[in-house]
Amino acid sequence: MLASGRGSNLQALLDAQADGTLAPAEIVLALCNRPGAPALDRARAAGVEALCIDHQGFPDRRGFEDAMLAALAERGVEAVVLAGFMRILSGHFLQNFPARVINTHPSLLPAFPGLDAPAQALAHGVKVTGCTVHFVDAGVDTGPIIAQASVPVLDDDDAGSLHRRIQAQEHALLPEVTRTLATGALLCEGRRVRRRPPG
Ligand code: GAR
Repeated sequence: MLASGRGSNLQALLDAQADGTLAPAEIVLALCNRPGAPALDRARAAGVEALCIDHQGFPDRRGFEDAMLAALAERGVEAVVLAGFMRILSGHFLQNFPARVINTHPSLLPAFPGLDAPAQALAHGVKVTGCTVHFVDAGVDTGPIIAQASVPVLDDDDAGSLHRRIQAQEHALLPEVTRTLATGALLCEGRRVRRRPPG
């Protein structure tokens, strides 16, 4: 799990691990790029190894990514879940995990990629927004879409209230997709992602 901040999505994944609904996925490491981020404490409280690799300690993206790659390789990590991780990953990092890096984003992509997606949705005046779990490619929130959930925009919403309702959906969707990824049932054909039928 890679996180940068509050870690509520990480918490949803840790909770799913605790109640057995994340299996066969297993969280072996919570890696955070910001010292003191609450995400680190959440992992430790759940008995999961927490590691901070501060991106500011490296002269360039390559050095930061190589440090993360070494930490992941040491632990035999097979897939990477971005749970509120706010750094862009390059092709150099991603080639180590083909179709094995997923992200959650608080909009119905391809609408409102990048930062402050709930505020972007409000400013545009859309009536429905939501969240997207997608494979990560070298673009910003451009990878193949795995799953989405919609959230209505209410007349009295501000960016905070809208983001909170979107996050309630993310907290269900991200663990479900993580579990499905670990079963090997996600089939990515170009931009189309489908689920292998059971059996
Ligand atoms: C989440 O809503 C996630 O979708 C968003 O950051 C939030 C992190 O919250 N990610 C992005 O905007 C990535 N483009 P959290 O730290 O409480 O999980």
